[in-house]
Amino acid sequence: MKVLVLGSGGREHALAWKLVQSPLVDELYAGPGNPGTASLILTNGKHVQNIALFPNDFQSVKKMLLQYHIDMLVVGPEEPLVLGIKDFCREQEELRHILVIGPDSKGARLEGSKDYAKGFMTAWGIPTARYRTFTAEQYRQACIFLDSLNPPYVLKADGLAAGKGVVVEPNPQKARHCLKEMMEGRFGPAGKKVVIEEFLQGTEVSVFILTDGIHYKILPEAKDYKRIGEHDLGPNTGGMGAVSPVCFADAAFMKKVEERIIKPTLEGLSREGCDYRGFIFFGLMNCKGEPYVIEYNVRMGDPETESVVMRLAGDLASACMSLKNRTLGEETLVAKNNHCVTVVGVSGGYPDTYSKGYVIKGLEKVRDATVFHMGTTSAQETMTAGGRVLAVSASGSTLKAAREKAYRQLSYISYRNMYYRKDIGEDLINMINK
Ligand code: AMP
Ligand code: GLY
Repeated sequence: MKVLVLGSGGREHALAWKLVQSPLVDELYAGPGNPGTASLILTNGKHVQNIALFPNDFQSVKKMLLQYHIDMLVVGPEEPLVLGIKDFCREQEELRHILVIGPDSKGARLEGSKDYAKGFMTAWGIPTARYRTFTAEQYRQACIFLDSLNPPYVLKADGLAAGKGVVVEPNPQKARHCLKEMMEGRFGPAGKKVVIEEFLQGTEVSVFILTDGIHYKILPEAKDYKRIGEHDLGPNTGGMGAVSPVCFADAAFMKKVEERIIKPTLEGLSREGCDYRGFIFFGLMNCKGEPYVIEYNVRMGDPETESVVMRLAGDLASACMSLKNRTLGEETLVAKNNHCVTVVGVSGGYPDTYSKGYVIKGLEKVRDATVFHMGTTSAQETMTAGGRVLAVSASGSTLKAAREKAYRQLSYISYRNMYYRKDIGEDLINMINK
């Protein structure tokens, strides 16, 4: 089987890292990929090849799908899904046979429109924060609703906003100001519609499934560390680290997630006539042991995937392939007993302005962890090329062991203005020790 992984970040490197372990994969391409994907080797000895394309430019994707005779397209990021890459493949005679891992644009609305997602959850009785949606013309009504809520206030731009469309603001005046700015197009046209919702107090956990529309496999859960600063201070980022498993997501909690969230979501999708085949990422809040959905994503998380793949036993390529004939129920995809900690190294200044183009030293010294490339480029040497540069994932028999290993291995790597959080997983260790 010939596989193309679409995207260029750490998530795509991690997915490719897992897929190359399958004897079913004869050739694997990453489009456009990164130096990390290009370093991977398949079980038949072949190298993974990076190919030049733009994931959101479907004509450039089509050219490569045909040129390399791709059988399966694994879509990493949300944008091509929301823009309808699957619909595009389905509508073209020459591409129709290609299995696309990810939903069509209808299914992708779960992530592409917060208003749609909230309406969906309400319709199917899925626990989520109380909310209302307002358009730019409804500013006054929106303020009245805002006043009816307790602070902090949660404002969400309806459309995709590259992870920056959510504002949590404790001050009522500032919340109104922010609401006005959003309605005036601060997050682009798709953000003019604003979801205002109740703030949920608790601890977040990311739960992932792979589904063929009928069957599903729950993948290892993970905890993401979103803020730039230690102890969850400072602005939001794409994610500064991840840990899996998550101690409070125990069997009792996961049973609630499955019964109240996963099953009703799949039932709702099916009843709404949506043939969803791909990953679903449930961003959950654990409120005193009760799970609530904060958001749906129609793809895997980044950096969560960099932890998840290291705990996944089974053949991911085979499981993905089974989505074609809806035989996922016959596949084995289970969590290993290990613990994994992922620490992300970023460019100093991120998530605001930062410089790039610095040489990354010491990668060859890392022997007891996996380095997933997020924002790197390779000329003669590997260099920084983004805000989030790399993710170091280490596995151990306990969280403590995995954590120590991740930090030790990360200490061998250096580049100018390197920054990383030193407290990834610390909160969970404290929780376990309590
Ligand atoms: P998102 O960009 O949708 O991942 O949201 C960013 C972050 O905002 C989430 O990860 C949560 O930490 C926070 N958040 C979103 N909605 C709520 C809510 N209703 N209550 C509390 N925190 C929230
Ligand atoms: N790490 C969160 C996300 O991928 O959206």
